Parts: sequence; structure tokens; C-alpha cells
Amino acid sequence: MANYPLKRLRRLRYNPLVRDMVRETILTKDDFIYPLFVVPGEKIKNPVKSMPGVFQMSIDTLVEECKDVASLRIPAVILFGIPDHKDEVGSEAYSPNGIIQQAVRAIKANVKNLLVITDVCLCEYTSHGHCGVLQGEDILNDETVSLLAKEAVSHAEAGADIIAPSDMMDGRIIAIRKALDYKGYTKIPIMSYAAKYASGFYGPFRDAAESTPAFGDRRSHQMDIANTNEAMREVESDIEEGADIVMVKPAGAYLDVIYRVKEKFGLPTAAYQVSGEFAMIKAAAQNGWIDGERVMMESLVAIKRAGADMILTYFAKDAAKYLDKTRK
Ligand code: PBG
Repeated sequence: MANYPLKRLRRLRYNPLVRDMVRETILTKDDFIYPLFVVPGEKIKNPVKSMPGVFQMSIDTLVEECKDVASLRIPAVILFGIPDHKDEVGSEAYSPNGIIQQAVRAIKANVKNLLVITDVCLCEYTSHGHCGVLQGEDILNDETVSLLAKEAVSHAEAGADIIAPSDMMDGRIIAIRKALDYKGYTKIPIMSYAAKYASGFYGPFRDAAESTPAFGDRRSHQMDIANTNEAMREVESDIEEGADIVMVKPAGAYLDVIYRVKEKFGLPTAAYQVSGEFAMIKAAAQNGWIDGERVMMESLVAIKRAGADMILTYFAKDAAKYLDKTRK
């Protein structure tokens, strides 16, 4: 083996064209999924305070936004709904005329070349803000799973392209797969939030989705932040139950988990760069403490480098514009 002074690793770093040639991780717009929040009403575009550039939108505004997203050639959006009416069992989550069902139909009727992914969970729809049906302060697993399966089917009936369960109940993937197949939706993939941690990084999302739990927290179903072997077991069981794409969430502080999931299972792997990750970069950039554009791209490349095939990110539009601007 050659050694210094024959070997000089800097040789490939002097010329920008050489650097371009040897770069190992290339981010493209095909990697992005853009999260959007839909509310009832008309002509609404409410800024989310803790997430600069993110809005709650009524369906008319959302459709225009989706046209914009498609024209940037971002392949997919993921929708979160804030219903008119919340109750103990999250009825609007699986109502044929729920906010998401209406939004999916409107996007599918008006926007071409855009995948619509729907988040399946009850927390935005329950009066108590928990991800399922309660008995006292307990979230009942199996009762919740039946409602999630109903919700998934109603999203498919509205025209959703991919179903993304984010609740972390046990057995929800097989229940959703069976329910979809029974209704003939055998071709709709499931992107499971497989390793989803009980994270403080979701703070701003709960403002955007109005889904903060009225009491307690989500630690009885979301994972302990300290565990990675358990993440492998979560991902494995979702794959056995029929998940087509598995997700790790959050992303930036869990790059080791993304790496292990991709290495071990080799399935298409998604990572969610969540609201708090976005908000921290935006806030530091607004203060002039970091170069926002540079750190945005660095955070996304890092997630892809760790093994993610796709990234759910509030930066999708900004990053797509950056890639257009810098494309040779
Ligand atoms: C649950 C859901 C949450 C997020 C995505 N789906 C919130 C939670 O688990 O409390 C968080 C996403 C983000 O922080 O950007 N429906």
C-alpha cells in the first residue's frame, strides 16, 4: 500500500470538477416528500408560527400548492388533516367526507404527476389528542387498530396513492393490509412509520396539526429514544406484516437507526426530517447564526448518506429550488 508522500487524499479535492466526479451521495428531487396541512374553509393560508414558510391550507389553496409542488417535479406530498369536529373516537378520520378524503379527491381531480400519501393516525381527530381510543388513560390497542384500518380504507377510496400509518399500535400494518386487500386495493403500498420515537422534535408539528395530547404523552406506543435493537424488531415486524416502505422518524438525530435499518433489511427506507429539525435550522438561519441554505442541504445529504431512499421534509420546495439553481 502506498503511503504519504506518494498517497495524498487532498489530490481529489483541489478541483471542483473532480470533487463533483467523486461525490458519493447525490440528492435529487425524487428523494423528497412534502408534508402539507389541510383545514376546513376557503381561501385559507394560515402561517404556522413555529415553522416559517409552512401553512395550514384550505382545500382550494392546497390544490394550488400541489400544482406548484408538481411543477417543481417533487414526486409526492403527504397530507395531514385538521378536522372541523373532534370527538372521543376520531370519527372524522374515517368519514367519507372527512377533510383528508375531500382533499385527496380534489388533488387527484386537479393535479397531474403527483403522488398523494396520507398519514393514518387518530391524534388529529380525537378530542383528547391521543392516537387511539381511550379507556381511562389507556390507549386501547386492538380497538384503535380496527379504526385505523377503516381510516386507511377510506383514504384509499378517496384516491390516495400510498397509505402511511403513523400511530405505532401493535399489529396495525397487517390489519390495514388485510382491510385494503379485502376491498380490492391490493396495489396500494403501505409506508409504515416503523421506528417512530417519542421525540421532543415533534413540538412544532403539534401546533400545525393541533394534536397536542390533553394529558400525558405518547410514550406508551412511540419508542424510547435510547433504543435501536428494539427499532430493528419494530421494523422487522412491520415488514412481516406487509409494509412496503419503512420509515425512521425523526431523522437527523437518528442517523444510526436509518443506517442499521437500511443495512439489515434493504427495503426502501424513508426518513422523516420532522418539524423540530426544520424549526431549529430556520430559527438559527433567521438569527444569522448559520447559513440556512447550506445547513438545509447538509442536513438532507446526511440523511441520504445514512441510507434513506426518500426524505419527508418541510424543506422539499426550498431544496428543489436550490437543486434547480445549482444544476449544471
Ligand atoms: C402523528 C404524526 C406526528 C408527526 C407525524 N405524524 C406527531 C406525533 O406523533 O405527535 C410529526 C411530524 C413532525 O414533527 O414534523 N399523526
